[in-house]
Amino acid sequence: MSKLLALALILSLLGTALALYDNNSKVIKLNKSRFQNEVINSKELWLVEFFAPWCGHCKSLAPEWEKAAKALEGIVKVGAVDMTTDQEVGSPYNIQGFPTIKFFGDNKSKPQDYNSGRTANDLINYALNEAKSIAQRRLSGGSSSSGNRQSGGSKGNANADNDGDVVVLTDDNFDANVVGSKEPWFIEFYAPWCGHCKNLQPEWNKLATEMKTEGVKVAKVDATVHPKVAQRFGVNGYPTIKFFPAGFSSDSEAVDYNGGRDASSLGSWAKEQRDAKKPIMFTQLLNQSIYDEYCTNNSGVCIIFLLPHIYDSSAAQRNGYINLITEIAQANKGRPITYLWSQGGDQYDFEEKLNAGGSGYPSAMAISHKKNLYQIFKGSFKKKDLDSFISGLLTGRGSFSTLPTLPKIKKVKEWDGQDAEQQQTDNSDL
Ligand SMILES: *[C@@H]1O[C@H](CO)[C@@H](O)[C@H](O)[C@H]1NC(C)=O
Ligand SMILES: *[C@@H]1O[C@H](CO)[C@@H](O)[C@H](O)[C@H]1NC(C)=O
Ligand SMILES: *[C@@H]1O[C@H](CO)[C@@H](O)[C@H](O)[C@H]1NC(C)=O
Ligand SMILES: *[C@@H]1O[C@H](CO)[C@@H](O)[C@H](O)[C@H]1NC(C)=O
Ligand SMILES: *[C@@H]1O[C@H](CO)[C@@H](O)[C@H](O)[C@H]1NC(C)=O
Repeated sequence: MSKLLALALILSLLGTALALYDNNSKVIKLNKSRFQNEVINSKELWLVEFFAPWCGHCKSLAPEWEKAAKALEGIVKVGAVDMTTDQEVGSPYNIQGFPTIKFFGDNKSKPQDYNSGRTANDLINYALNEAKSIAQRRLSGGSSSSGNRQSGGSKGNANADNDGDVVVLTDDNFDANVVGSKEPWFIEFYAPWCGHCKNLQPEWNKLATEMKTEGVKVAKVDATVHPKVAQRFGVNGYPTIKFFPAGFSSDSEAVDYNGGRDASSLGSWAKEQRDAKKPIMFTQLLNQSIYDEYCTNNSGVCIIFLLPHIYDSSAAQRNGYINLITEIAQANKGRPITYLWSQGGDQYDFEEKLNAGGSGYPSAMAISHKKNLYQIFKGSFKKKDLDSFISGLLTGRGSFSTLPTLPKIKKVKEWDGQDAEQQQTDNSDL
């Protein structure tokens, strides 16, 4: 190699390296030996960026990475590996794109992927939370590694030994349980070492047992072992108690609990929340017990919507009706009305007894067992007509008839949300 070529190479390498983090930068540039000595073979905590100088996202990250490095100086180390010059540093980590950010915590052979926001603030929050949970883990005498993250299991802390009816949630199973849940969740975020949490434990267990018959799930998350979910809900003290309404879909729906820490205060608040946040459930009429719950055992009115058979319809059309009715139900929230739907013809005897469905589907029948009256919807199945049907029911307009003795509701299969099966040829029972 000619001297000139070598010089050009050095300059270009310097040039690229300087492009993102210069000499004055607080970001520690890591080559193979520094990485091995200062990251892997040390106790320090490191946030490391694997980057390429040409990568656009790396360039946008650079000023934030720099700010984070300044802010975290002396607390958590912030480094950068230029993968165009020090590729071998990144090779054990199967880096798939730039920038890739990893946190090297208390088990250096198991760095964690960083997937949160790319602002200095996001980075700092993450690093500090990690540092905090590592320190707390060490304090509680837990294993110093992150190897115990996998699941709630058998770690010997005060809470886990005695879960009773309390559901143990983790970073891994939180969403599967809570998001879209039919039942609301009441969740304690705790740390095993926290005194207030230990005091709460017997009350929390008692609450869990009581709430079993109230349709509220009671759970806990060890925030020191499952920092992701704790961080996501802004937990910064222990215990933190939050209510997640049924059908939970957006993190902002979680409600903080700030009341007394006894089972009775917790329970009555949770029941209030459960009732206030109850979404309109538009349920399919599947059996007699659903009918009894929504209609027989109801001091108001239940409306049963009869939707066209799936063979004569489609999933899209049926969902269109369901959405329309849900919207109307939502607008009438708070009124003494419950809503069910049934596939037209599924309850043939029942429909016939009330002369519903005679003019085709979709249709609707409104039933008040308390007043022993019913009324069949006669309009066209559009928002305007349905609205006036509903307001008529409440004001006593429209033609009510006396409820005859009704046949039992047949047990039917829940709709699977799909179109009718293509091969279905046996239409004989239609
Ligand atoms: C960076 O450091 C090198 C060697 O220490 C020096 O030659 C160069 O001038 C410095 N560059 C800047 C921008 O400070
Ligand atoms: C790694 O970087 C350090 C400090 O910048 C330097 O002293 C060392 O020679 C470098 N090692 C290699 C193998 O490039
Ligand atoms: C660190 O992580 C590795 C890889 O998951 C694991 O095999 C090892 O047991 C862990 N070390 C400790 C001390 O937990
Ligand atoms: C009725 O259907 C509901 C919902 O599928 C189910 O939970 C319940 O056990 C059923 N009741 C009977 C008596 O089949
Ligand atoms: C009817 O309501 C009462 C009181 O709300 C309740 O205890 C009972 O379980 C209900 N029965 C049915 C079938 O839903």
